Amino acid sequence: MVNPLTVEIAGLKLANPTMLAAGILGMSGLTLERVAEAGAGAVVTKSLGLKSRSGYTNPTVVQVEGGLINAMGLPNPGIEYFLQGVQQTREVKVPIIVSIYAFSPEDFALIAKKALKMGVDALELNVSCPHAEGTGAEIGQDPRLVEEVVKEVKRGVDKPVFVKLTPNVVNIAEIAKAAEKGGADAITAINTVKAMAIDVETAKPILGNKIGGLSGPAIKPIAVRCVYEIYDEVKIPIIGCGGISTWQDAVEFMEAGASAVQTGTAIATKGLNVFKQVTDGIEAFLEKKGFGSVKEIVGLSHQN
Ligand code: DHB
Repeated sequence: MVNPLTVEIAGLKLANPTMLAAGILGMSGLTLERVAEAGAGAVVTKSLGLKSRSGYTNPTVVQVEGGLINAMGLPNPGIEYFLQGVQQTREVKVPIIVSIYAFSPEDFALIAKKALKMGVDALELNVSCPHAEGTGAEIGQDPRLVEEVVKEVKRGVDKPVFVKLTPNVVNIAEIAKAAEKGGADAITAINTVKAMAIDVETAKPILGNKIGGLSGPAIKPIAVRCVYEIYDEVKIPIIGCGGISTWQDAVEFMEAGASAVQTGTAIATKGLNVFKQVTDGIEAFLEKKGFGSVKEIVGLSHQN
């Protein structure tokens, strides 16, 4: 009998449709291993660049109603140092997707090649960090740049390339179409929503960078809408991301058009158990509704 929870995203086989989102816990081989053991179907690393970067000054995260606002400033040890650490662990038994960022299409391609040489399963291009200068959403808001970056990366690699999009645009489906035209194998939607918080007593912006990205339950309806709009415009699979913390959230994203879902902020509130809770809930839902596979609910809301 086929396992109702297995999915295939651009040739990548996942035991279940849940994934660790970029940015949370994907800091080392050891943490990725723990997330995989907790039940994630795949894991995405923190965004890595060509060189190490120390990030912004503290505070870099603030809790607000409905989620977290973060502006870390892309701190990372550089792609090679990070992946050497992951290679030494070698115990992650689910696909590893490396999130990468760069300041030019050429550097995106260079980092992509370095990552794949070190044996990772897929790449996720971060063209959506809402506050970094010269990278992230500054690329991801321009369909021509997105297409160019994806094309350049795809020219040099033979593994699946996901493109993570920013919701901070007028027409996200247009950006998704540009990524598809460039050769993307899947779309991840969405990255954080541009946001800020101010301390009322001191009248000071709380984050060191002042502006950050909102994640968590507050952005779920925005993310569901984005997935729904993208599903109508592209043929490649969509990976839903944004405020997913329960199986109902996951099913909602899949009915909107997502083939898999990513969870990040919910780990801070629910712990690593969230992956198993979501997967068990999806399985019970499929059985209750008489579906033989989770694939049958993808995009279902578009019929209504
Ligand atoms: C950071 C934040 C993001 O939302 C993102 O996509 C990448 C990096 C950060 O501040 O490090």
